[in-house]
Amino acid sequence: MNSPSAHLLIVDDDQITLDLLKEVLTKEGYQVYTALSGEEAISLGMDHLFDVVITDVRMREMDGMEVLKSFKKMSPDSSIIVITAFGSMETAIEAIREGAFDYISKPFRLEEIRLTVKRALEQKRILEENKLFRQELLEKYQIKNVVGRSPQMLQIYKTIAKVADSKSTILIYGERGTGKELIARSIHYNSNRNHRPFIPVDCASLVETLMESELFGHVRGAFTGAHSTKKGLIEEADGGTLFLDEIGNLSLSVQAKLLRFLQEHEIKRVGGTENIKVDVRIIAATNQPLEPLIKANKFREDLFDRLNVVSISIPPLRERKEDIPLLANHFLRRFSEENQKNISHFSPETLELLTEYSWPGNVRELEHTIERAVILTNRPVILPEDLPKKIFEEVKETGFKFPEKLLPLKEIEKRYVLKVLEETGGNKKKASEILGIDRTTLYRILERE
Ligand SMILES: Nc1ncnc2c1ncn2[C@@H]1O[C@H](COP(=O)(O)OP(=O)(O)OP(=O)(O)O)[C@@H](O)[C@H]1O
Ligand SMILES: [Mg+2]
Repeated sequence: MNSPSAHLLIVDDDQITLDLLKEVLTKEGYQVYTALSGEEAISLGMDHLFDVVITDVRMREMDGMEVLKSFKKMSPDSSIIVITAFGSMETAIEAIREGAFDYISKPFRLEEIRLTVKRALEQKRILEENKLFRQELLEKYQIKNVVGRSPQMLQIYKTIAKVADSKSTILIYGERGTGKELIARSIHYNSNRNHRPFIPVDCASLVETLMESELFGHVRGAFTGAHSTKKGLIEEADGGTLFLDEIGNLSLSVQAKLLRFLQEHEIKRVGGTENIKVDVRIIAATNQPLEPLIKANKFREDLFDRLNVVSISIPPLRERKEDIPLLANHFLRRFSEENQKNISHFSPETLELLTEYSWPGNVRELEHTIERAVILTNRPVILPEDLPKKIFEEVKETGFKFPEKLLPLKEIEKRYVLKVLEETGGNKKKASEILGIDRTTLYRILERE
């Protein structure tokens, strides 16, 4: 990696070496700074962030070991390379112990310097990527990012906490968009397997003829087109978790092989003879009940029993309406941030509509609805008009509904009057006729707080 943005600092009290190194490393495309003493280096380090610091050990005033120690404290992310005198192995070892990335002993070849800097930057990049990657995943899938406080969801959190660290197979059932994959991921990321891969497989999209080799791998020449031996997804997930989505779509022959794997913890690649031990936790999911498939001889009952050791059933959103405002606000915050908008809340009518709607596409549909509303509006609040028409239409069709909360008659009265007014297009005369009250009464009701 010749990272042109990399900042390097060279410290040496010999001007000639300094100039030479600067010339060579600038040619590599780095931004090169120099210091003629340890003190100067440290004062540069106060307001610069150097990716790599190269320092001579033997210098007249402050020596290179002091520079190393100061930088380790002041700027722990900088990689330090020390240049030691010929034959002073002890200094080199001490430098490494103090946290130097590497040492180069004199007399050095310029090529050595070039390569060591390159390696230091490469390692930094990998470390940074790993750190980011892990942090991102952990943040995304910790249970705390699964939103919902309904009794059914609380029960699911308890199950996750109980089974995460065990190796038991889990079967997740839920309509489309209820969060099956999210729950599977949070089981994985809360388990002691979280440093190994989580591999999702959509069984519905696997071509039947390739299903087996996708999952179990194949050896070279196992079939036309198998030019080389290839690991299957089960092997790829070794040490981690394999998420088999839409498990009801597996062919009977693959079901038999999967059952064998669950019993023996071994696989055989297609065309191969060797039994390979693999340590994988299986989480399966389905949005159709498997029992009818078992009755129709399309799904093996013994496999079902094996998979169903622990089962989690995620209820549809319409059966846990109290989660809707929480989820809606969660998505509102996320999408406002992503779109750099300052939208603080939903109007009460909007929340009521969201809560009343039946959400056939469950959480995913809610997520998309909020995203769309955030993109469309330029107000700080989401109003009913920012929602798709079908939500109004459905909620209207189901007609007048008693609110879930018990309210005083006066409150219901006002709401009903408003509803009738809405239906009559704001015509107060018509409304009072329908309601069987005179207009003064209608006004009085409307003026109530
Ligand atoms: N409880 C929840 N909290 C926060 N986000 C959720 C929750 N449940 C689902 N989601 C989000 O809703 C979307 C759909 O979830 P997911 O893909 O896990 O559902 P699924 O059941 O696997 O859907 P499908 O059956 O369509 O594959 C995802 O973006 C997910 O992050
Ligand atoms: Mg899914």
